[in-house]
Amino acid sequence: MTSIPRLHFAHLPTPIEELPRLSSLLGGPHLLVKRDDQTGLAFGGNKTRKLEFLVAEAQEQGARMLISAGAVQSNHCRQTAAAAARFGLECTLVLTGDLPSEPSANLLLDQLFGARIVNVANRKDRDRVLQETFDDATQDGRKPYLVPYGGSSPTGALGYAFAMEELINQGVHADWIIFGTSSGGTHAGLVLGQRVFGFKGKVLGISIDESVDWLGRNVSSLASSASEKLGGRIQFTPGDVLANADYCLAGYGVLTGAEREAVRLFAQYEGLLLDPVYTGRAAAGLIDLVRKGYFRQDETVLFWHTGGQPALFAEKYAAHL
Ligand SMILES: Cc1ncc(COP(=O)(O)O)c(C=O)c1O
Repeated sequence: MTSIPRLHFAHLPTPIEELPRLSSLLGGPHLLVKRDDQTGLAFGGNKTRKLEFLVAEAQEQGARMLISAGAVQSNHCRQTAAAAARFGLECTLVLTGDLPSEPSANLLLDQLFGARIVNVANRKDRDRVLQETFDDATQDGRKPYLVPYGGSSPTGALGYAFAMEELINQGVHADWIIFGTSSGGTHAGLVLGQRVFGFKGKVLGISIDESVDWLGRNVSSLASSASEKLGGRIQFTPGDVLANADYCLAGYGVLTGAEREAVRLFAQYEGLLLDPVYTGRAAAGLIDLVRKGYFRQDETVLFWHTGGQPALFAEKYAAHL
């Protein structure tokens, strides 16, 4: 395997824990959780693993600034701002949506980390504004590095290819891995790691906001490109990507009874916090699939917790929990 630039700041390996009270409440299979909400870097989450590779690449290219984009309550942007602060880089975030008069949760943290915020009211303008922000910073000689949406480039996806190796090395058997998938980098990394490191179970992403078609195309293409960085291209096809988009019909960040129930069940039966947008929705999918008898009783299902809890404190979500 070729040497890949990587920084080491994540708290790894993340623990794997039992969910006995939830398993028994649901009368379902053996449930485990992998605690990637504990990866470190500003409350942790899945972006820490990606940023180990992304910030290393930025440094290798001589970047002095990180630029990224997301929603106003983006976990990815919060962790990117923290990584920039940690490694002495400037940070500009292009955030889409209405900025509240009192910043809270992730937005408050972005500001504490010293990120400059560029607000885009309308999602249709965000790619243009992001490009302009990048071009302006380049012209000013600030040497920006563009961290893609969700950190989901082939480089970022490597974080989850190696996370799969970590899981295998932990020696815990799982028939299924269930997690929330959105920009596809986590999913692509897990699919790549599954192939390269020989994970025998199934890897099922619960979509937060994209169709099964979109995920099939983008995750397979990301996984194929990421494989080149490991020393030899593996051609993945949409058929290699398992995804379920039954739980995202309400739209991104819209809390329904299903997310609320999932957040409350994990809190009240396991003392464990999910987030309202990603892990809340993914867990709602998991709970529904268990209730429908999708998994066999003797199977082990590992819920991969991808973080996001600071969003619990955002006014727009807290009011609906
Ligand atoms: C908490 C959390 N979980 C899951 C995801 C989805 O990960 P990905 O964008 O790699 O699909 C995100 C993305 O921002 C997230 O913040």
